[in-house]
Amino acid sequence: MEMARTGVDHGIAIREANLADIDGIVEIEQGAFPDPYPKGLLKSFLYMPGAYLVATDGGTVIGYAIGIIRHRTTGHLVSVAVSTSHRRSGVGKALLEEALARLAVAGAKRFVLEVRESNAPAIGLYRKFGFVDMEKIEGYYADGESAIVMELSGSSGSRT
Ligand SMILES: CC(C)(COP(=O)(O)OP(=O)(O)OC[C@H]1O[C@@H](n2cnc3c(N)ncnc32)[C@H](O)[C@@H]1OP(=O)(O)O)[C@@H](O)C(=O)NCCC(=O)NCCS
Repeated sequence: MEMARTGVDHGIAIREANLADIDGIVEIEQGAFPDPYPKGLLKSFLYMPGAYLVATDGGTVIGYAIGIIRHRTTGHLVSVAVSTSHRRSGVGKALLEEALARLAVAGAKRFVLEVRESNAPAIGLYRKFGFVDMEKIEGYYADGESAIVMELSGSSGSRT
């Protein structure tokens, strides 16, 4: 991990998630999404091949990223979220950068994700890494909102 590259403040660290982080992850999840993943599902990703990371500030979980390997060479970014108090300080970018790097080490040659079409902050973050829009899935989310499927091929590095 090279925090200097990401602009994240001192005191903030990124590391692999473990079972003891789950309650903190659930709290962030619930503050970040209208349709949060249940605790059991967030826990289950710990046991899947891929990358499950937390960002901590003084030991408190302030963000997380989950990516899993599908079909050996596809890194599926399942979720990334940062607590509202720590947004816009480079934590999301640092989490995504590390998750993509770890997924690449685990065999990912391409990366995919779904994002709500109204989620400008997340779409902005993904575009920064070179993700491009692939397709729109109408009514993908439970409340009827459509998803944009985004893909990044070949490189896992931020372009900025
Ligand atoms: C998306 C999210 C993870 C970004 O985390 P963050 O730590 O605030 O992001 P960063 O500070 O690392 O920002 C990195 C880049 O993302 C983009 N970005 C972040 N917040 C943005 C906003 N509010 N509006 C527009 N672009 C934004 C920018 O390109 C930014 O680069 P810049 O600061 O140089 O302009 C955060 O907003 C979040 O947790 N949202 C709720 C959960 C969510 O929607 N997750 C994505 C699910 S698909």
